[in-house]
Amino acid sequence: MLPGPTNVPNRVINAMLTPMINHRSDDFRKLYKDIVNKTQTVFETENDIVVLTTSGTGAVETSVLNLIKKDDAVIIPVNGEFSTRLADLIDNYGGKTIRINSPYGQNPPIEKIEEVFEKNSNIKALYVVYNETSTGTTLRNLSKLGDLCKAHGAFFVVDAVSILGGDELPVDKWNVDVCFTATQKALAAPPGIAPISVSKEAKKYMIENPPPSQYLNLKRYFKYYSDSFETPFTPAVSLFYAYQEALNIIIEEGMQNRISRHRKCANAFYSGLEALGFTPFADADSRSNVVIALNYLPGIDDKKFRELLSTKFKVLLAGGFGELKGKVFRVGCMGEVSSYHVMRTLSAISSSMSILGVQPIRDGLSVANNVLNQ
Ligand SMILES: Cc1ncc(COP(=O)(O)O)c(C=O)c1O
Repeated sequence: MLPGPTNVPNRVINAMLTPMINHRSDDFRKLYKDIVNKTQTVFETENDIVVLTTSGTGAVETSVLNLIKKDDAVIIPVNGEFSTRLADLIDNYGGKTIRINSPYGQNPPIEKIEEVFEKNSNIKALYVVYNETSTGTTLRNLSKLGDLCKAHGAFFVVDAVSILGGDELPVDKWNVDVCFTATQKALAAPPGIAPISVSKEAKKYMIENPPPSQYLNLKRYFKYYSDSFETPFTPAVSLFYAYQEALNIIIEEGMQNRISRHRKCANAFYSGLEALGFTPFADADSRSNVVIALNYLPGIDDKKFRELLSTKFKVLLAGGFGELKGKVFRVGCMGEVSSYHVMRTLSAISSSMSILGVQPIRDGLSVANNVLNQ
């Protein structure tokens, strides 16, 4: 129950047993084309798709390296570890971030972002971390932010690493220029692949202004794809097979069904955990459906609690990051998550509380069960 890597279906694991192929062959071209088409379906976009053999951070870096030049002004809401890392990266590459800081667990009011756009005519891009994995906080106004970027001629870049496949993200409808994710989270595939979508405008800019990088230079990926449906460098072929099968599963389920399933499981988690006595870390209007972050109760030690869950009940939960270490725990509600995972996790948490001498306030399991059966 980690916020990544998540459980991977057997079909996806088995796909990795496919014999190795030459990445300069028709077999690979067919595989790559199919992955691109299916990724477009899942991202709800007609934009170009690049499939990188990297973890999510490779995609984060690619989005900065290919778009941001020295002294470019970039707006970025900052409210957790991953948005801080992204803002620091933009500055390290010579960009000038205008950080809209909000307390962890809260999102900035959109008016603050509008104000920065009004006061600065030279904004190159708005970067956002859609789901701040470190705090269980999701930005709920992406569509409006996309409109704002369009109105001000700025690129809209979305880090969707911990959310795509588990919540709404219609890339074209929301005017997202660059969107990236990683396979080990809500897509329920192994780690190692990072798909990115790039709009026509962003692609044109990247081709005209390529970065000095070799591996993360998107101009090369566009050229190889349009010339021969290949990648410029050796891709992780076995992971491509796994990702293809994960996409098949997502398309069979349907994105709307998948999003509803995540929402229902998240509601059951929040209701059940609150009944046990925990309070969610994030504000109600910004709570994530894919990462459930809870404040610890007095008397529950982070290390003891998660060790007990892991060794006695075989349930893995994540702790807090940085300043939240020891203060919150996080439950991944992603990918394969189902009623079974919700009930088993709540049962393990409830039992662990009792073992640690903290009595649950109410019966969280029946509360969660009611939500799941609604
Ligand atoms: C929002 C976000 N961005 C980026 C990353 C980095 O991804 P990776 O660990 O796959 O490099 C993560 C990882 O959890 C994340 O949650």
